[in-house]
Amino acid sequence: MDKKIFDLINEQMNFEFESAYIYKAMAAYTDDLDLDGFTTWLDHQVTEEIFHGEGMKDFLQSVGYKPVYTAIPEPQGDYESVLDVMKKALEHEKEVTRRITNIAKEANGVDERVRSFIQWYIDEQVEEEETFNKIITRLERVGDDWHSIYILDAELGQRPEPTEPNIAE
Ligand SMILES: [Fe+2]
Repeated sequence: MDKKIFDLINEQMNFEFESAYIYKAMAAYTDDLDLDGFTTWLDHQVTEEIFHGEGMKDFLQSVGYKPVYTAIPEPQGDYESVLDVMKKALEHEKEVTRRITNIAKEANGVDERVRSFIQWYIDEQVEEEETFNKIITRLERVGDDWHSIYILDAELGQRPEPTEPNIAE
């Protein structure tokens, strides 16, 4: 077994859990602003990130690699606005995409199980970035108009509770 490639998956597993922690801190900020819809939406994002991390843990265990949980850095707690939150979230997702893409490159021709497994995450990142981009565009258009922000808040609050994705079995 090429341990290096599985170490990268293990590192990414921890980064997915770090993502969950970051979104949790963002949800606390929007909750503080009484934006219930944004808060629900971000809390569901937390659940998704945990599923992403779990998918990697399950994969590592199925190939006989023992997952190692590392320390999670303290997330940023305060933000300038919900727009600031969403911009930082998009930046974070771009970093996730960069790391996932790197895993795919490293796995190519080295371990086809990893290369195949990571494809689900590559596709998922396209969706993630598009979602955050759309919310940012809307927030930029409405500016400081709280009436419009509340309309978006109500809409985001409709996001359904995520169900566990079928990543790789
Ligand atoms: Fe993720």
